[in-house]
Amino acid sequence: MRIWTVANQKGGVGKTTTTLALGGRLVMRGFRVLLLDLDPHASMTQSLGIPAEPPPQGILELFDEPPLGILDVMRDTPMAGLHLVAGQAGLATLERRAGTRPGLGRALGRALEQVADRYDYALLDCPPTLGLLMVNALAAADRLVVPTQTEPLAQFGLQGIARTASMVSRSRSRGLPMSILPTLYDRRTRIAQDTLTEMRARFEGSVWNDAIPVDTRLREISQLLGPDPGENGPRGLLAYSRALDWLLACDHLGEAVG
Ligand SMILES: Nc1ncnc2c1ncn2[C@@H]1O[C@H](COP(=O)(O)OP(=O)(O)OP(=O)(O)O)[C@@H](O)[C@H]1O
Ligand SMILES: [Mg+2]
Repeated sequence: MRIWTVANQKGGVGKTTTTLALGGRLVMRGFRVLLLDLDPHASMTQSLGIPAEPPPQGILELFDEPPLGILDVMRDTPMAGLHLVAGQAGLATLERRAGTRPGLGRALGRALEQVADRYDYALLDCPPTLGLLMVNALAAADRLVVPTQTEPLAQFGLQGIARTASMVSRSRSRGLPMSILPTLYDRRTRIAQDTLTEMRARFEGSVWNDAIPVDTRLREISQLLGPDPGENGPRGLLAYSRALDWLLACDHLGEAVG
């Protein structure tokens, strides 16, 4: 199983959309995929039709002492082959309640080891804040996928996550490859074009050479989990399909792919 952590220290940049779109594309290609919703807002969980009340079992129980097994808290989604460990509002106070128990930073990694043979990919949707959940997600990750909105303010979130990733990377033997996906790209605006150019210059080699366009159809879960579009299909979903090609190639060939 490969673990891809989708994170950025900025909100609203397309993390949840990216996690769902990539998850849907992977399943369409025949992979078995597990999604983890690490965000207390639980938008991914709710878009998959699981209500916030009463709180579902999910990520929180993986941090219990002793923890529940991941097989006991995961559930089906509307798409066959795509499974979910739900996010809950209680994740917002996990850090305060869990305190400084030893080994807490590896709880997710240990939980995922239990299903390493059952899934081809685990995709982790992070909250925009650097805390216990993001630290867990980065520690477990084989690859960090960073959706980044193509607008000037988004550079700060990108620099933040890049710093965090390089710290994590230095603290472990296998490193942590980072793949930046430009999102919400409006090619008609100069500011989007300039931001993209600057992003590519600053993070040379780590940025996808294309971008996910603004496409309102990406706001519909039926699109995100729908079949791969033909050449005339929705532009947004087509772009995610190409983004997946790039990520798979990066995994396959190391970091040599531009
Ligand atoms: N390419 C796109 N085109 C149009 N709308 C998009 C696109 N990507 C995301 N959106 C919309 O933008 C909003 C923010 O996207 P999303 O929830 O994926 O971001 P996020 O980074 O997960 O946000 P948060 O930090 O709040 O978790 C959502 O309403 C989503 O439907
Ligand atoms: Mg989100």
